[in-house]
Amino acid sequence: MCGIVGYTGNHSAVTPVIEGLRRLEYRGYDSAGIAIPTQPGQPLFIKKRSGKLKKLEEALGKTPTTSSGIGHTRWATHGGPTDTNAHPHLDNEGNLALIHNGIIENYEQLRAELEKRGHKFKSETDTESVVHLLSEARKENNGDLAAAMRQVCRQLKGSFTLLAIHSDKPTHIVGARRNSPLVVGLGTNENFLASDVAAFISHTKKALELGQDQVVEITPNSVVITNLDGTEVQGKEYEISWDASAAERGGFSHFMLKEIYEQPKAISDTLIGRLSDLDLKIKFKKINKIVIIACGTAYNAGLVGKYAIEKCGGIPVDVELASEYRYREPSLDEKTLVIPISQSGETMDTLMALRYAKSKGAKILSVCNTNGSTIARESDSVLYTHAGPEIAVASTKAFATQLVAMYLIGLEIGRKLNTLTKREIDVICEELNQLPAKVEQILETVEPLRETTRKFKSAESILFLGRHVGYPTALEGALKLKELAYMHAEGFAGGELKHGPIALIDKGTPVIAIMPSQDSLLAEKMSSNIQEVKARGAIVIVISEHEFSGADYLIRIPKVTQLMQPVLAVVPLQVIAYEMAVVRGNDVDQPRNLAKSVTVE
Ligand code: AGP
Repeated sequence: MCGIVGYTGNHSAVTPVIEGLRRLEYRGYDSAGIAIPTQPGQPLFIKKRSGKLKKLEEALGKTPTTSSGIGHTRWATHGGPTDTNAHPHLDNEGNLALIHNGIIENYEQLRAELEKRGHKFKSETDTESVVHLLSEARKENNGDLAAAMRQVCRQLKGSFTLLAIHSDKPTHIVGARRNSPLVVGLGTNENFLASDVAAFISHTKKALELGQDQVVEITPNSVVITNLDGTEVQGKEYEISWDASAAERGGFSHFMLKEIYEQPKAISDTLIGRLSDLDLKIKFKKINKIVIIACGTAYNAGLVGKYAIEKCGGIPVDVELASEYRYREPSLDEKTLVIPISQSGETMDTLMALRYAKSKGAKILSVCNTNGSTIARESDSVLYTHAGPEIAVASTKAFATQLVAMYLIGLEIGRKLNTLTKREIDVICEELNQLPAKVEQILETVEPLRETTRKFKSAESILFLGRHVGYPTALEGALKLKELAYMHAEGFAGGELKHGPIALIDKGTPVIAIMPSQDSLLAEKMSSNIQEVKARGAIVIVISEHEFSGADYLIRIPKVTQLMQPVLAVVPLQVIAYEMAVVRGNDVDQPRNLAKSVTVE
């Protein structure tokens, strides 16, 4: 969703602000804008453009060299992606600029009141109401922008990260957050505010977390955080564990391809030091039900988690779409363990489901990839995945590490509840340790698959089949293809085929089948499913660890226990989706209409 950057320091602000916005491009956006003070008390320099950041840069012309400024990439919610609707928004004097991520739910009422009081609106956005309100509040608070921001936040309903700058005090930037991310970057004689540490990672690795409903005011040499009642609070400082190069393409044509190739490292980083004890603050003996809540790819990882945790730990597991969960008033109590899975740790649907579960007394163990994210902070315990920054909108290495996290949780419960024998624990650990090398092996032999993929570039629809954990893997393969290739794709459980979906099969329909491990009884069943679709004209691409003569195209993966097969089988599926996006001329890293971090419900 929207990217937010604020800089105040001793260099011209245009460069760090634009550079920060570029590093946040991955979040997904459709317009961009910047506000820089000119002279104290004079209107701010503003430039906004719909489209990509490049269009904004081309439009910039001569910019002020002032050493403070704010910038924004917008993912449209209220009002289309036009120059006028782009942020920053200004008050009627043009001296106060505001940028916003999230949704202001009571904006219509605020707008009607403000218009009655003479404020002139230019855009269709919910944000513009806030800048007019802030302008009034600033006057009421004798020019104190932080006090004005606190007053305004108390009147707002919804979720927001807000950043404001006024030409009277050009070195001061004021921010606020509720249910939407905002971090402070602590530099030397310069400070940053951003929706994500990636924006300032090339300047500083020191960051400060902000809590819910807090306001922050930064200058080049100070950071003051307050609650909405004005009491000063200390932010939690932390060191960012990755460096700028991790958020760069490093010779790959796209971030997604780089991230596919980073999977062996991401898996081994997530495993390091975790196999003997996870040190989770959860008393598993007191738990009688587990609910995994997540969205999209993370949900698919959760589906695999159900198989792993039930098999290893013997506790019943439900997997729920976070966006649906709280609305059906599910039964849960203090004996329920809820596991939210989220790469960003900021997904609003998942956060709201987490809060609902917490309010009912459930224990929360989140699986997150982002240090200090809201979901991580609101959980009783966190198992961090160590995928490093995932920049491409389509998740790849985060999914691989979420799967590993599921196995680790299963292993931990099995160990704590004695549902696994010592021998079983050793085998699982050995299998997990071998995963990075096996993924590496697939990546070394993936080139012919890219060529095969190109043959299907004009297909109208591609179907994915799997059984057991191959079923969620099929769902993930289909999701990747939809996101990247903008093609119709659907994943089915092999056994369900004959109950309806087989009607979709026509002459030439490509079907990608994930063959279960040979040692599982399901291999024979899948073999029959493949024969069924072939008999109706399908062209079948089979992903299998063993030879299979019934395939039109066979993609071999290394042998692994059935439970862990998704970690390997998903790799060719990611490559297929990637290649299909490339050959169809799509934007691989920022597919249309999508955002990396979905901070609205
Ligand atoms: C994955 O390719 C998608 N971009 C999307 O489904 C994503 O997994 C989902 O939005 C959840 O995000 P999260 O892991 O950051 O919560």
